[in-house]
Amino acid sequence: MTQKTIKTIGVVGAGTMGRGIAQVFALYNYPVVLVDTKEEILRGALELIKERTAHELWDKVKNLIETSTDLEKLNGCGLVIEAVFEDMAVKKELFRKLSGICGKDALIATNTSALSINELSSAVDNPSRFAGMHFMNPPKVMKLVEVIKGDKTSPETVDAIVDVAKKLEKVAAVANDSPGFISNRLLFALIGEALKLLESGVAKKGDIDTVMKSGMNHPMGPIELADFIGLDICKETMQTLYEELKDERYKPTKKLEDLVKAGKLGRKTKEGFYKYG
Ligand code: NAI
Repeated sequence: MTQKTIKTIGVVGAGTMGRGIAQVFALYNYPVVLVDTKEEILRGALELIKERTAHELWDKVKNLIETSTDLEKLNGCGLVIEAVFEDMAVKKELFRKLSGICGKDALIATNTSALSINELSSAVDNPSRFAGMHFMNPPKVMKLVEVIKGDKTSPETVDAIVDVAKKLEKVAAVANDSPGFISNRLLFALIGEALKLLESGVAKKGDIDTVMKSGMNHPMGPIELADFIGLDICKETMQTLYEELKDERYKPTKKLEDLVKAGKLGRKTKEGFYKYG
């Protein structure tokens, strides 16, 4: 399987990540089919992509992104990237469907934050063509694409995904399947400790964030970053890491659980640990 086969990109899930991934591919001239469950979600996604695209590039981007609620529209794509809810059952169900829809040569990738690539791959009919292709948020801005190799992922699949990432002027880092891969194992160790400092009353959220921004040169503090990622995603990711690695540092704190229960999911709902205008 070579890069030549990847001409059209499918993206499933038009949320925070899916719409950003679709935008990046379109900016780099790939035709994209973007699928979600409802027309209104797709309309909203296109509006947000428009807001975040330079005026002079919007016509091109708009023309390259086809939206649909019908997964069958993905049957001609050379690479389909899944960016739906961080839920093993939801993703597996989708991969079962995609296995019957995508061409036999098509690559299938997941943008999962922490779920096992090996377990997800069990729902793909030919797991050698399956890998993690983990974009960071926001995909247009962040240079990294983490490529995760499952036990059955072929070297050709890894090479093809690294190649596509390079075509988007991204930097690829390759990891074997392990909970949280490289990025989220490190990131949530930091966010988890920051939330524990907050919960145990050692410091206020603003001071915790200030230490990392002004003391360690991080562009965002860990608690601001949790709000930016989405607290539901943070909670799910931390729960997976906690269960898989059996390491207390990843255990979601009570405050995080409470905010998610209350629907305060961070920036995307205008309130999380912080409030947003
Ligand atoms: P989100 O909640 O913003 O969007 C998920 C979208 O998937 C929703 O629009 C939903 O309607 C759609 N969806 C759910 N089930 C579907 C199905 N069966 N078919 C079609 N569409 C479906 O979630 P977000 O934040 O975009 O996360 C997506 C994935 O990316 C997750 O696996 C997450 O862990 C991962 N991720 C998230 C990052 C972040 O900063 N938010 C960063 C990197 C990865």
